[in-house]
Amino acid sequence: MRVCGIYFSPTNTTKIIVKTVFYGLTDSGRLYDATTPEGRRLPFVSGSEDVVLIGAPVYSGRLPEVFADYLREKDFRGKKVAALVVYGNRAYEDALVELKDIITSKGGVLIAAGAFIGEHSYTSEVAFGRPDAGDKAKAGEFARAIEKNISREISVEVPGNRPYRERRISHPMGPHTGDTCIQCHLCAEKCPVGAIDFHDSRKADFEKCLHCHRCIYSCPVGAKTFDRGMEPIRRWLVEHCSEKRLEPEWFTE
Ligand SMILES: Cc1cc2nc3c(=O)[nH]c(=O)nc-3n(C[C@H](O)[C@H](O)[C@H](O)COP(=O)(O)O)c2cc1C
Ligand code: SF4
Ligand code: SF4
Repeated sequence: MRVCGIYFSPTNTTKIIVKTVFYGLTDSGRLYDATTPEGRRLPFVSGSEDVVLIGAPVYSGRLPEVFADYLREKDFRGKKVAALVVYGNRAYEDALVELKDIITSKGGVLIAAGAFIGEHSYTSEVAFGRPDAGDKAKAGEFARAIEKNISREISVEVPGNRPYRERRISHPMGPHTGDTCIQCHLCAEKCPVGAIDFHDSRKADFEKCLHCHRCIYSCPVGAKTFDRGMEPIRRWLVEHCSEKRLEPEWFTE
């Protein structure tokens, strides 16, 4: 089967699920990482493949705006698309329906959709270590469900509300940098929105920052920490979302 996969994944949990589904469908094909501005500039070829696979994390019950804008520039005319979102054990709310609407508005047909769970970008105390072996096994099952739907004329229904919930913008926050910084600029290269200064990577533009935490995870010397303004949100998440283990689900009808 010919598959073209595309994902946005600052802290790699979406990438793990997309890869597991992708390699459950095919051993060849193209996989695009659209997390960085450079990645989003690469030509996204969707030629003669049987299915396009799209994966995104859930931000505030929605898609990350930068990835939604990127997908809106694409052409999915005549394409069968399988879509998935990965969320941090709280809720995915309107993210799948938003993804479906973008795919449909660009001429694609959604043949399968899934919602998976990944360790919360804000704290490892919520959904620690996920996706784990159980999640990956379910991603394999989702790949088989996609396979079954490829030959069907179907456009699947997904949960979510229209109008979508409003994106909650917390006050501008971003990463701080400690004295151990060696100015390797890895954080600046990896930032999905170019919020970190390439000349002095201790500086970040808090107005641009997505709060994705990619710079915190990617710093080789642990010099980056996130703004203390995030603490009340972290505490809320640990209190309300760390006890119950939510499970992946998918929609194929
Ligand atoms: C800005 C932001 C908003 C988030 N909002 C939600 C949310 O509404 N619900 C939820 O369950 N998880 C939420 N998360 C957690 C991520 O969806 C989750 O950690 C996901 O696995 C991250 O994907 P990635 O590893 O591909 O970056 C949010 C994370 C960030 C950075
Ligand atoms: S500066 Fe903000 S947007 Fe850039 S990687 Fe760090 S947390 Fe993400
Ligand atoms: S990745 Fe870490 S060490 Fe490298 S420039 Fe960024 S903060 Fe400094």
